[in-house]
Amino acid sequence: MTPPGGAPASVRPLAKGTLSRTLVLRVTSLVALVAIALSGLTLVVLDRILEAQLDAQVLAAAGRVRSNTDERRGGLVPLEELRCGGPERGGPGQQQGLLMACSEFTALNGLVPANGRVQTGTVSQPLTAAQVAGLIALAPTAGPVTVAVEGLGLYRVTVGVDQFDRTVVIGLPATTVTEPLTKAALAAGVLTVAAIALAFAAARTVVRNALRPLQRLANTAHQVSSLELHSGEVAVPVRVPPQDTDPRSEVGQVGLAFNRMLDNVESALAARQRSETKVRQFVADASHELRNPLASIRGYAELTRRERGQTPPDTAHALSRIESESARMSALVEDLLLLARLDAGPSLDRTPTVLNELVANAVSDAQAAGPDHDWELSLPEQDIVAVVDPFRLHQAVTNLLANARTHTPAGTHVLTTLAAEAGDAVIRVADDGPGLPDSVRDRVFERFTRADAARARSGGGSQSTGLGLAIVSAVLQAHHGSATVESSPGGTTFTLRVPLAPR
Ligand SMILES: Nc1ncnc2c1ncn2[C@@H]1O[C@H](COP(=O)(O)OP(=O)(O)O)[C@@H](O)[C@H]1O
Ligand SMILES: [Mg+2]
Repeated sequence: MTPPGGAPASVRPLAKGTLSRTLVLRVTSLVALVAIALSGLTLVVLDRILEAQLDAQVLAAAGRVRSNTDERRGGLVPLEELRCGGPERGGPGQQQGLLMACSEFTALNGLVPANGRVQTGTVSQPLTAAQVAGLIALAPTAGPVTVAVEGLGLYRVTVGVDQFDRTVVIGLPATTVTEPLTKAALAAGVLTVAAIALAFAAARTVVRNALRPLQRLANTAHQVSSLELHSGEVAVPVRVPPQDTDPRSEVGQVGLAFNRMLDNVESALAARQRSETKVRQFVADASHELRNPLASIRGYAELTRRERGQTPPDTAHALSRIESESARMSALVEDLLLLARLDAGPSLDRTPTVLNELVANAVSDAQAAGPDHDWELSLPEQDIVAVVDPFRLHQAVTNLLANARTHTPAGTHVLTTLAAEAGDAVIRVADDGPGLPDSVRDRVFERFTRADAARARSGGGSQSTGLGLAIVSAVLQAHHGSATVESSPGGTTFTLRVPLAPR
């Protein structure tokens, strides 16, 4: 699997679903909530204070009116003077907006219509009959109440009954409360909006700065993910920078843990590589050591077989089996040794090579080895040159041709072509044989994959090791090329690709 690699996609600040967006929105909402609650409370308190002040003024005015009337108690009071808001009560010097109204006076000789006055500017104006009627209809109250007076707006009034049983209403305009309150509300609104905007900007900056180390952490993780660990790389040279590994901060803890994890991964990879190298070295050494004794066995068997006249037929058969099995074992040992070398790292002897010649030689060898097959070669007119190890590549092609010879019946047509395609030299070996058996189709390039291992061992395919295609794959990988197969019951086509030499 290829790691995704590349730089991390940078997170757009405040994009949907981001942590920064969540944090900024929550902080801003919290500040908004607090600001709104504070200004609301302030306005309520201010309202209470202003109302209390106004109530005190209303009660004071009511007290003055009462004492004015009380002074005349017992005496004969002229009817005029009993009129609510008589000339001496209104007029210049009176409190602005002071409103007075009283009900009919019936104790003396006549009816005095309900009346009232209101102080506007320097004059005291009479109230209309409707206004007075509305006011004296109010029930007496313990303290001042707010009422709407027709044409005058809201008033804070106290409703009482004087010693002549008249309903007396004294009031002051509620604007002394509502006006400053409106101004305060306006100011509070503006301040709240400003506070929210400020909180948003500050939260954005703070959150962005606070999350920056996380972005650096992500960068490090992406660098690690783009390392070629899958292709044998064991060094992990990337670490979280020291400024993000301070254990006293949360991100620092993550950074520190991340670095420890990388240390661990690196040492585990190195340990695995060491043990793999040991195993590979062992396989290479063992194969190498087996070569000589095998050659001796083969030699002695051959020697004894030549003197067939003196050996009984059973022994002769056994000797020929010893000979062929030791030949197979030698092939196996050679293949193992080659694979171990390829595994140890590309030890190729690369040189610009004309592939036309290389392929032609391989096919002519195959023709000599398998005269019962129908060999065909198709080469382009121009030379195709690639920088390859000619012996290794020749071996890969030879392995494919040997398979086409040994795993298909006599008479099978085998077409070998060479072509240049999209910057690659492409070698195809196509036969019209029976195709890959189902049991091996998905893993032909794996080691020791053979269609019928038991039959091959018992001598059916005397040279079969199950390593031929594994070697092909390893050789092509070492050349930064590829080996692929397409197969159906009507035939098999192997395709090898290596990059063309730059012109
Ligand atoms: N051209 C082919 N036609 C049919 N089967 C094939 C062909 N090439 C390879 N195979 C199958 O793939 C298996 C693996 O091939 P290989 O790795 O070369 O091992 P070996 O040839 O030693 O058996 C073979 O055993 C055979 O079953
Ligand atoms: Mg083979």
